[in-house]
Amino acid sequence: KKVDKQSKDEQLEHYRREDSGKHLTTNQGLKMSEDEFSLKAGERGPTLMEDFHFREKMTHFDHERIPERVVHARGFAAHGEFELYKSLEKYTKADFLTDTSKKTPVFTRFSTVAGNRGSSETVRDARGFATKFYTEEGNYDLVGNNIPVFFIQDAIKFPDLVHALKPEPHNEMPQAASAHDTFWDFIANNQESAHMVMWAMSDRAIPRSFRMMEGFGVHTFRLVNAEGKSHFVKFHWKPVLGTHSLVWDEAQKISGKDADFHRGDLYSSIENGDYPEYELGIQVIPEEDEDKFEFDVLDPTKLWPEEDVPVEIVGKLTLNRNVDNVFAETEQVAFHPGHVVPGIDFTNDPLLQGRLFSYTDTQLIRLGGPNFHELPINRPVCPFFNNQRDGYGRQTINTGQVSYHKNSLAQNTPEPAAPEEGGYEHYHEKVEGRKIRARSVSFKDHFSQATLFWNSMSEPEKDHLIQAFSFELGKLESDSVRKQVIEMFSNVSLDLVQGVAKNIGITPPEHGGSDVTKSSPALSQQNTVFKPDT
Ligand code: HEM
Repeated sequence: KKVDKQSKDEQLEHYRREDSGKHLTTNQGLKMSEDEFSLKAGERGPTLMEDFHFREKMTHFDHERIPERVVHARGFAAHGEFELYKSLEKYTKADFLTDTSKKTPVFTRFSTVAGNRGSSETVRDARGFATKFYTEEGNYDLVGNNIPVFFIQDAIKFPDLVHALKPEPHNEMPQAASAHDTFWDFIANNQESAHMVMWAMSDRAIPRSFRMMEGFGVHTFRLVNAEGKSHFVKFHWKPVLGTHSLVWDEAQKISGKDADFHRGDLYSSIENGDYPEYELGIQVIPEEDEDKFEFDVLDPTKLWPEEDVPVEIVGKLTLNRNVDNVFAETEQVAFHPGHVVPGIDFTNDPLLQGRLFSYTDTQLIRLGGPNFHELPINRPVCPFFNNQRDGYGRQTINTGQVSYHKNSLAQNTPEPAAPEEGGYEHYHEKVEGRKIRARSVSFKDHFSQATLFWNSMSEPEKDHLIQAFSFELGKLESDSVRKQVIEMFSNVSLDLVQGVAKNIGITPPEHGGSDVTKSSPALSQQNTVFKPDT
């Protein structure tokens, strides 16, 4: 069966229909003669326990809220389609990346990271850019951000990072991503964050519109072709309208006047037929070239310079339909970097490895049990079957006596598919080593790419970044944290920290690492002025 955008629409249609009856009923189908007054003993008397209609209506209302996402709570989404410009069979056997005749239905959710569900949208923060491809071989999720690198290198630090960047626990401030002591204290004590902090302080962290924002898979993933050959890959989304930002003053004013600025822009452009478009790009490194770079290709705090590894444009995503119901679609969607299809696989990036655990785990509580894959927005468009059974909210009515694999009682129980029949097979990567908890030596350079990023900027961009640091650090209560951060970023550029120090009235450091333009794994250890990093 051809899976195109229409098939996802048809699948959703089934769930979208309103009740056909014209009367108001209870959930049991009983027509109600009155919906405005509870049942009382006498005109001015107490409400009666017997009022099952009141109880049902109120109980359902009382249970309407579900927990917001622990991160990326504030999001907005739309449906669309993905078309492939050219076959990638050289690299992958994934059907949706090799068959150019197909249009794959997609659902994309954009988000801020730190703020809660009601927070303003034009705050300084990274943005999520998560896309679910409903392919014929199962759902593939590309769960990315608009910044190409991440704050940390190992997933075990993610709870610490998020505790530091969320509102402080003793006073629940600040509500959205903004200057505060715990965030900057975390940064100064976890210096692998330097590169992403430079992006977060740049104009990239205040996008003009979701339509004018790049997306990045961040991690190094693996593409595997039909012959079993593996390539490392990084995924990019390039907005057709170009990448544009607000300036901080605009962002703050808009934030005060219209907390829904980004969703309003996306919604109305789709309603008006100005469909947001993003081209998919890939950077590819053959597995055997893994060690040819000055940085470790598995380190998620590093990008692959586009001059060295060009981005090849391979397809286009078009968002062309707003959701019908934000709760049912935008809120209930469950993305997961581990939702892959044959031909796409993982690498040993320790941040990615931990994400592969975290998403299902959090969705089990957020979406109330193990059956959220049955929700319309999460269902694949291809058939799915296994022996998993029951659980809260189960919708499928499984039939038959047997609900286990190897058996002699049932006829025609589904069997695993061989790789030639489309069965997923993990790449046979060779793994060896001792069990240790440590940072790889190859992950120890924290400042070279941060410096390259700074050096790549125009003067106005540099000035915006100095202003952003000044605003953030100027608001800190702790002098010690402020000084530690200034010291840390003098590893990136002396001009940067001297500009900031001047703005916020502290003594600027005299030495720094501003001449660093090449990767140097030993850099962070050589620099004795600053806190030793572990
Ligand atoms: C959402 C964990 C790193 C992108 C989430 C959620 C969790 C989480 C628990 C909420 C999911 C839900 O409730 O459905 C983690 C962990 C990370 C990590 C443990 C690192 C160890 C990243 C990175 C990226 C990213 C590096 C970008 C490449 C996203 C996006 C969402 C999200 C876009 C929102 C998805 C949506 O719109 O529903 N993450 N995350 N995360 N994460 Fe991560």
